[in-house]
Amino acid sequence: MKTLQLTIITLFFLSTTLFVNGQVKTSMIEKRVDSVLALMTLEEKVGQMNQYNGFWNVTGPAPEGGAAQKKYNDLRKGLVGSMINVRGVDQVRAVQKIVVEESRLGIPLIIGFDAIHGYKTTSPIPLGEAASWDMEAIELSARVTALESAASGINWTFAPMVDISRDARWGRVMEGGGEDPYLGSEIAKARVRGFQGDDLSSVNTIAACAKHFAGYGFSESGKDYNTVDVGTSTLYNAILPPFEAAQKAGVRTFMNSFNDLNGIPATGNSFLLRDILKNTWKYEGVVVSDWGSIGEMIAHGFANDLKHAAEYAALAGCDIDMESSAYVAHLVSLVKEKKVPLALIDDSVKRILTLKFELGLFDDPYRYCDPEREKAVINSEENHQAVLDVAKKSIVLLKNDGNLLPLAKSGQKIALIGPLAADKNSPLGNWRLAADDNTAISVLEGMKEYPKNKLDYAKGVELIVGKTEFISEVNINTSDKSGFEQAINAAKKADKVILVMGEHGYQTGEGRSRAKLDLPGLQQELMQAIYSVNPNIVLVLMNGRPLTIEWAAENIPAIVETWHLGSQSGHAIAQVLYGDYNPSGKLPMCFPRSVGQVPIYYNHKSTGRPTIPAPNLVFWSHYGDEKNSPLYPFGHGLSYTSFLYEDLSISNDYKATAEIKVSVKIKNAGKVKGKEVVQLYLRDKFASVARPVRELKGFKLIELNPGEQKTVEFILGDRELGFYNNHGEWVVETGGFEIYVGGSSAATLQNQFELK
Ligand code: BGC
Repeated sequence: MKTLQLTIITLFFLSTTLFVNGQVKTSMIEKRVDSVLALMTLEEKVGQMNQYNGFWNVTGPAPEGGAAQKKYNDLRKGLVGSMINVRGVDQVRAVQKIVVEESRLGIPLIIGFDAIHGYKTTSPIPLGEAASWDMEAIELSARVTALESAASGINWTFAPMVDISRDARWGRVMEGGGEDPYLGSEIAKARVRGFQGDDLSSVNTIAACAKHFAGYGFSESGKDYNTVDVGTSTLYNAILPPFEAAQKAGVRTFMNSFNDLNGIPATGNSFLLRDILKNTWKYEGVVVSDWGSIGEMIAHGFANDLKHAAEYAALAGCDIDMESSAYVAHLVSLVKEKKVPLALIDDSVKRILTLKFELGLFDDPYRYCDPEREKAVINSEENHQAVLDVAKKSIVLLKNDGNLLPLAKSGQKIALIGPLAADKNSPLGNWRLAADDNTAISVLEGMKEYPKNKLDYAKGVELIVGKTEFISEVNINTSDKSGFEQAINAAKKADKVILVMGEHGYQTGEGRSRAKLDLPGLQQELMQAIYSVNPNIVLVLMNGRPLTIEWAAENIPAIVETWHLGSQSGHAIAQVLYGDYNPSGKLPMCFPRSVGQVPIYYNHKSTGRPTIPAPNLVFWSHYGDEKNSPLYPFGHGLSYTSFLYEDLSISNDYKATAEIKVSVKIKNAGKVKGKEVVQLYLRDKFASVARPVRELKGFKLIELNPGEQKTVEFILGDRELGFYNNHGEWVVETGGFEIYVGGSSAATLQNQFELK
């Protein structure tokens, strides 16, 4: 046994000394992977495909009896290839030591963790970051997550989630980039770059995971884990693009989704995993199942038992079984019975071993286990400054009538009211498994940094009742109004009221679907009570999804969307409210007027009856009791200055250059410096498959001084002009196109061109 381990370790060192450049590195890794594979038994190969959740305090005594002991023994037998939810350098070192020293081949584990929006230092939720439309900021945020995770022994995050979703009822919209595939693809690339950097073996980087492949964001009625039934056009043009972008950006792992897609669970879906991902896209990385999703194919009514499920998943192309224990129990016999070809097992194991080499784990299994580094990196001042920067950029000014904002910095009486105003926990969002509870800067704390105003805080109402945690339902307060009076009195005496309301951090995320999208509990009632005594209100929303806030949009003069902004939340919010940071965020998902409009998205099709034919006629595509338009459209967001768009011109030299050039002038027409996300939308007027009324095909973030004008150019090539037809083929079709440029998806500045 020891000789074998020695051979492998020698090979590992050889492999690293010969790394000269990317190519040599790849071919050396291939050789080393083959040499390890040649030493492995079938059982050990299957072991690499098995992933367990952390199940005991690794630095404590070994577990005795039950499932924990079985898992522990599997580690020692080399029947586990990766683990999830083991973190901290001591724990990771201890678990690595078991496999490295006690298993026959000593192959190190990959340690995975859901570092979704930060590790200890928490970034804004991904939907919030998406609102920045700032790819550098988004990349920076992922880099901080990678830095802290890697310093804590982690090699692999289960992020980015790149699921497009048009349904705010789905709790997981907080984890993604919103409703648009173009923006979503850019974000996918930025986050992959941020997590992985350009060298996975660096102690600053971790492997990323594009999830959930595929269709999860289209779960029927927004109910988590629900059925997904979508046609080819939606699958290829809306769902798949961010995944393909992540693959092209070199993402090293994919996770399949829980849902069935048109009747076939994604975990056992060879069309998705084998045909599209591994064959058509030539993806060479690892596919991991979602938690227990192999076993769930039985509940789906697709697999007869766990063995059958293992067979489906392995044949489809799922390389790692996360917590179903289906592979470790059944793959060996499935191979012996010739139901699963050995070649497929070898293929999966090669992918997994390659990742281990790339991460440098074979070189040194304890590479990420340096306690000094852990202490120095986690929660560093630098990391907090970085997430503060991202947090400010993620805030969206939805409304600012009468320029209520920014607030004057002195001489004002401010009443700060609301259940989330002093909350230090909710801003951490949902996926903050490593963050310490109650460590976010609250709005109250942030506002106190501006001491020349008089600040009067009153909670007004509790949002929830009892304790909350990641896995349990949240109980909303629907009866206790005892705090109303104090809040109303505070509002009466104030010049301005800052109302901080929204969703508790644990009201969004996995398993957190909502059928109602209003302000939960008694918040609406409190808002109206405050309004009746003092209408000078700034509503600061803190939430993980678009909400239906029509009353507020009509009555409250200023509304600021702040999402769940992470560790530095309160500082970021106060700096925006006081104008030390001029907001530039834009909505990555539209806000509906009412739940009945959902799913609602700007890039919908026209239908055959898009407009009212004559006054009062009903035979057109509309609601009798609601408008068609959203309350706030995709891409919407104001600034403390205003921008003027003009001179939208097109140079059409497509025949010679395969490019259309678009240019537009933007002027800062206000009195302060500001940033604007200039957005370009395209409409393909008619095509072999009906195309959306408009689609985002470019955006640029610019900064302008007061009075300054800039010309912004966009180039539209085949990537922007084409689409997937209903055979899944990419086509660029001739004909008329319209272009819209402006500060939101409702942009009206228009021009057109013909593609010949
Ligand atoms: C989620 C994944 C997550 C996994 C591991 C699942 O329930 O759907 O997104 O990465 O758990 O925690």
